[in-house]
Amino acid sequence: MKKIIDLRSDTVTKPSEAMRKAMCNAEVGDDVYKEDPTANELEKYAAELLGKEAALYVPSGVMGNQICLNVLTQPGDEVICEKDAHIFQYESGSPAALSGLQLSLVDGVRGVFTPEQVESLIRPESAYYMARTKVIEVENTHNRAGGTINPIENIKALSLLAKKHNLYFHLDGARIWNASVVTGISPAEYAQHFDSVSCCLSKGLGAPIGSIIAGTKDFIKQAYRVRKGWGGGMRQVGILAAAGLYALKNNIPRLKEDHDKAKLFSDKLSQLPNLFVDTECVQTNIIMLSPQKLSVDDFLTKCRENGLYLGTGKVGVIRAVTHMDVSFEDIEQAIQIIEKIVSSFL
Ligand SMILES: Cc1ncc(COP(=O)(O)O)c(C=O)c1O
Repeated sequence: MKKIIDLRSDTVTKPSEAMRKAMCNAEVGDDVYKEDPTANELEKYAAELLGKEAALYVPSGVMGNQICLNVLTQPGDEVICEKDAHIFQYESGSPAALSGLQLSLVDGVRGVFTPEQVESLIRPESAYYMARTKVIEVENTHNRAGGTINPIENIKALSLLAKKHNLYFHLDGARIWNASVVTGISPAEYAQHFDSVSCCLSKGLGAPIGSIIAGTKDFIKQAYRVRKGWGGGMRQVGILAAAGLYALKNNIPRLKEDHDKAKLFSDKLSQLPNLFVDTECVQTNIIMLSPQKLSVDDFLTKCRENGLYLGTGKVGVIRAVTHMDVSFEDIEQAIQIIEKIVSSFL
């Protein structure tokens, strides 16, 4: 069978043998009664790692973000986020559908916006005819911007602004682990600036499913109720939580390898004709490519015919994501495939 190099997303990874073994041996119980020892252990471990009082295991990153927003707001409230934020672009309109929220969008640079930009959008409390600004949301790393990192000084300044205006501050940290590995700033150091955080186990960390949300004990108590109401109460979920626990304990430092693969890929591709690569954007494991003489669809089809799967980002942009199931050799091979395609248009 022809080998497929799948760079569509870091969500395509399959559990390793060691992870499967941990899943196989997991002790389980009914988690809706809070009697699943492995899910309980995962939540305790994750809360400690994130420096928060409590954590909750949820089926997906979308559910994590949406539960957090639901707990922090009332219908008719407004959430300020970046224009390419996952909660705006890729969560099926659920801030409006599930929580009656409207989003106010900030035009960030590579996914990063400043406190000055946000302050001008905060609505005065006295304006009863306007939506109430309630939450500022930050995505770190920023997916649609290309895996970019939000500088910690900027996060601190945004956090102070949120406090000044009595707003909540939420982190979509689906890939906070990637940011942490690059900057050396621990997940807890990032998380301390936020009221709520949502982090994925099923992306670069390689678990088959699951996210963690974290905050105060009271916040998680309310989140537990919302998760149940949205059908996210799980039973003998320790089988899956064991994978998440394994991922957190074993797979964070190895993300550096994915970043090195992304750097190799983008550096080599940036030297090719008929292809634009924003190398400054490549800070973690995501690479954005724009083909110059071929449509995105045609480029993707030609890659696919050669066994290379890539994804899409913004209009006209192709997204490649490195992860644990592609090797350095696979990346070299992917470069050769793309070189052949773009060179045929010289
Ligand atoms: C930044 C960000 N937040 C949230 C999610 C949602 O995660 P899930 O696919 O587990 O719902 C993703 C998924 O790609 C993401 O990139």
